[in-house]
Amino acid sequence: MAVIQMDRGVRRLEPWKIAVIVVSVIVGLALIIGLITFLLCHDQDRYYDASFLITNVDYNPQYERQTTDEFRNLSEDIETMISEVFRGSFLSKRYLRSHVVSLNPDPLGVLASVVLVFKFPSADSEAATWGQVNRVLLRRLKAISTNLNIDQSTITLTELNKEKGDNLLNNCCGIRRQTSSFTGVERITGGQHAREAEWPWQASIQLDGTHRCGASIISNTWLVTAAHCFRGVRDPRRWTASFGILLRPPKQKKFVRRIIVHERYGDLVVDHEYDVAVVELATPIEFTSDVHSVCLPEASHVFPDNSSCFVTGWGALENDGNSVNQLRQAEVRIISTEICNRRQVYGGAITAGMLCAGYLEGQVDACQGDSGGPLVHANSRGIWYLVGIVSWGDECGKPNKPGVYTRVTYYRNWIHSKTGI
Ligand code: ARG
Repeated sequence: MAVIQMDRGVRRLEPWKIAVIVVSVIVGLALIIGLITFLLCHDQDRYYDASFLITNVDYNPQYERQTTDEFRNLSEDIETMISEVFRGSFLSKRYLRSHVVSLNPDPLGVLASVVLVFKFPSADSEAATWGQVNRVLLRRLKAISTNLNIDQSTITLTELNKEKGDNLLNNCCGIRRQTSSFTGVERITGGQHAREAEWPWQASIQLDGTHRCGASIISNTWLVTAAHCFRGVRDPRRWTASFGILLRPPKQKKFVRRIIVHERYGDLVVDHEYDVAVVELATPIEFTSDVHSVCLPEASHVFPDNSSCFVTGWGALENDGNSVNQLRQAEVRIISTEICNRRQVYGGAITAGMLCAGYLEGQVDACQGDSGGPLVHANSRGIWYLVGIVSWGDECGKPNKPGVYTRVTYYRNWIHSKTGI
């Protein structure tokens, strides 16, 4: 009896049922193994604030502003030193970057505060990784040779949560979170597609909901753009600003409270002088790694001729073309005003408040719809500065007719007088 029953039982389990059971067991196991490896091997950014006293540098009031040469020079030395500390250690693969966030006065020198970013497997405990970073910092800072004297007893390392770390970095101007660049070259004029977070300060200024011009974020409530964008329509209620690399859908969108066009920009004159305006938003932008501000250079700063810059925008790909939905970028070089004013180029039309960038051979240029947008340059620390504002040009990408930009250093004090920035 028992044997017969068992026989029947086995016969009832048809082959397809066995297959289903086997497959579900395999899938279940795979999911569990996958989950475990994900949890163990998945990397996570971890942020730390390192602060210490530098005893062989006297405090200079220029350290108050991040955009001064003094701040840049000392910060660069500090960041290079920190890189050397970690690159030469067993944490070299974990270390991503360091960024000086403040330089404060101290009776014995300068107190530096630096954000350090590491990549650790999420499974590693926070206490353990903090311990590793701290140990390497203390030990290697003593060992490496640098021209900075660090008072070892003042070194403190604090772990920051992701939100705090992100906030600290997103509130600094001109930082681009690493994007391992490379997209295929695509035919702005002769440029290529931009990727998310590559140009986080880029804004679109829209009239009745339609893209009109580019603009740059200089604080959470102020944008800078070209005056000619508001030709005819200056009523702020008809204008909005959007952020993120796509026009549709944008990452954020804001109403405009106020438009301040340079008082000497003449609506009737077509000479492109004073082509600068600032726009106040109705509510503050929420800064993220995809949307935050660019740095404004000091008025005295000189960007050398031939410096490599990038211009970005949703403008046409060719003269008289349409705007595009995804932001584009093009690399251009600063052309000296002397060359740009030559008879065969712009024959003297370039004034002190303007700057030329592009190539005399043509091909790569901004175009209609890019106006108001940023021309930016990265300094030796990798911090991006606003060099120019897309203003005018004879068509787009024509030989001997490079793009002409509003020179930001020339209007730096005007921007400050209107925005306090
Ligand atoms: N004025 C144009 C605009 O309103 C931008 C001109 C830039 N032209 C150039 N070739 N770079 O969008």
